[in-house]
Amino acid sequence: MLFGYICSVPLTPVPAMITTGQKITTQRTAKSRLQETDLEHIKFGRVFSDHMVVMDYTNGAWQQPAIMPFGNLQMSPAALVLHYSQTIFEGLKAYRNVNGGVSLIRPQANIARMNHSTHRMCMPSIPEDVFMDAMMELVRLDSDWIPKDDDAALYIRPFMFASDEYIGVRPSDSYRFIIFTCPVRAYYNEPVRVKIETNISRAFPGGTGEAKCGGNYAGALYPAKLGMDGGFHQLLWTDGLTHKYFEESGTMNVFFNVDGTLITPGLDGTILHGITRDSIIRIAKDEGIRVEERQVSVEEIEVAARNGRLRSAFGAGTAATIAHIQSIAFGDAVYELPDVSTRELANRIGKKLDDIRRGRIADPYGWVVPVI
Ligand code: COI
Repeated sequence: MLFGYICSVPLTPVPAMITTGQKITTQRTAKSRLQETDLEHIKFGRVFSDHMVVMDYTNGAWQQPAIMPFGNLQMSPAALVLHYSQTIFEGLKAYRNVNGGVSLIRPQANIARMNHSTHRMCMPSIPEDVFMDAMMELVRLDSDWIPKDDDAALYIRPFMFASDEYIGVRPSDSYRFIIFTCPVRAYYNEPVRVKIETNISRAFPGGTGEAKCGGNYAGALYPAKLGMDGGFHQLLWTDGLTHKYFEESGTMNVFFNVDGTLITPGLDGTILHGITRDSIIRIAKDEGIRVEERQVSVEEIEVAARNGRLRSAFGAGTAATIAHIQSIAFGDAVYELPDVSTRELANRIGKKLDDIRRGRIADPYGWVVPVI
């Protein structure tokens, strides 16, 4: 066994084949860190709640999942993931609703997407019911970590990595699946300034662009850093073949409001199948807004920006929610977009999505999954 936890749990999980409906074993933390955490002043991704789910894949089967105190991992320096990045992740949120309950939004979509990523990255898929049960139980256990106010939530981070102690290049035989959570507020604290990237590529047809795998993000760090050094929050990726068409932004999908029509790059295999993206499209259509999912050329948006038809643009993602775009740099030309208060369309869709999440209006889509 390669991995153990630097906390008081057995280093070797009990080998047992998973049968659905089994109770997840839970070892509670001896001392919660909640009392010493200031939930009102948390920064995104820096504060972690008390527990995590851990489940190992060994001998060709998923073993019994366990909930245990959040703690460090101990691993071999030869663990495959550390060398060849066979690792994937997901991101979703638990929201406190107006009745004091807690809900997840479309968790089945995240589970399905994770299993899509497992397929592309040659990893074993995760039994959906086991994933869902473990995640619900974890959120229930750490629900006091969800801040009470409306602009906060509990971010849930499921991930999985190759754990074989081996440095030959091949798919791992063993994996570890973990879910931990963190109370969060906004990912971006202000409207974002983005730069169109036309030199370095994030993805290519047939590549891993639509998988939520660590390598996609690692490869983006260098150009993103160059962008940040230039005063931009994020890049707007263009296609790897011609650099003429928009793909997505670093942490989110992207939407343009041109003359009241919402335009977003289609799912062509190189961009993430954003669940927030999909929710926005559904709501927008039901609000009578014209939506176009298709190839969106840089030229088209640049012309629209130049002649005042680009009314707004925004990014959409679990972490970012709806992130207004303040300005877009097309090479040396920077276009400032209208003030946030005029972004009626994005604000209207964002409010409806939030009202559904918070239980302020009925959920017509069947997206809300109550946890408590
Ligand atoms: C999310 O929005 O949940 C993501 O996974 C983006 C992440 C890189 C912060």
